[in-house]
Amino acid sequence: MSRILSKIHLSKDVFQMKLQAPNIARERKAGQFVILQADSDYTERIPLTIADADAEEGSITIIFQVVGKTTLNLALMNEGDVIENVLGPLGQPTHIENFGTVVCVGGGIGVAPLHPIAQAMKDAGNRVITIVGARTKELLILEDEMRAIADEFIVCTDDGSYGRKDLVTKPLQEICESEKPDVAVVIGPPVMMKFCAETTRPYGIKTYASLNTIMVDGTGMCGGCRVTVGNETKFVCVDGPEFDAHLVDFDTMMLRLTSFKTIEQKSNHECHLEKAIEKL
Ligand SMILES: Cc1cc2nc3c(=O)[nH]c(=O)nc-3n(C[C@H](O)[C@H](O)[C@H](O)COP(=O)(O)OP(=O)(O)OC[C@H]3O[C@@H](n4cnc5c(N)ncnc54)[C@H](O)[C@@H]3O)c2cc1C
Ligand code: FES
Repeated sequence: MSRILSKIHLSKDVFQMKLQAPNIARERKAGQFVILQADSDYTERIPLTIADADAEEGSITIIFQVVGKTTLNLALMNEGDVIENVLGPLGQPTHIENFGTVVCVGGGIGVAPLHPIAQAMKDAGNRVITIVGARTKELLILEDEMRAIADEFIVCTDDGSYGRKDLVTKPLQEICESEKPDVAVVIGPPVMMKFCAETTRPYGIKTYASLNTIMVDGTGMCGGCRVTVGNETKFVCVDGPEFDAHLVDFDTMMLRLTSFKTIEQKSNHECHLEKAIEKL
């Protein structure tokens, strides 16, 4: 059981919650996640990255976007409510060391899992260049927090409503040309990660992507999160979530993400998500 200590409406359909979880707060490292169940025993469990933690307070922070039934149920909960199950920390921590220059690229809600990694890279002595992208200005999250960490900070929006009117791959390509960073970390929609990997590949820049596959048990036993990495089958929950982006078979991963589309659409109760969020 985990009590909600605070809830903030960050942007259109993105929420930040601080949860009471002293053991997870003490143990977690950048890149790890929790699997949580919003209410009774029979609801689905969803993975969410530990966006921040405060070991002294015994709290962890999650940031999530409302995309379907469980995330909507979570968004409808409030400070003081109790989340039935929060399991973690899960997954392998990000490999952090002083690489030199690290470019961190976040798209949409991917900026939330990127934040603790960018912070850890900075704390390890790296020069951190951060590129964040969103479809439009209203969907940008954690701008101030990411700006505070970065040595160089670039914002892109698809519609040009803020920052550069570019996809994140454009500044990434320019940085590959001008600075040849030592490492890239990219987190966002699978298609964005795929094209970021294609951008850094010709320059031979080691690139890590944090994969957001479907997960069920989070223990490596159900096979729900399997991906092909360098022609080998890997389980994102125990082997990942981060992998060498140049080896990930993104096309098969994207296909597998659509496996439950029909069921997801049905569970979206005629998709009144927008109305429900507006009422919050
Ligand atoms: C390691 C990891 C970390 C993640 N961290 C975050 C985060 O910090 N913030 C955030 O907003 N999202 C994060 N996600 C994605 C998040 O888990 C899904 O958005 C959530 O499960 C959607 O559930 P739903 O019932 O609301 O939507 P649904 O209607 O069930 O699904 C909507 C979308 O979410 C995907 N999805 C559904 N169920 C799961 C599941 N059990 N596991 C993974 N994907 C699923 C579907 O393929 C679909 O694309 C993460 C995913 C992984 C694997
Ligand atoms: S979620 Fe079941 S094997 Fe990874």
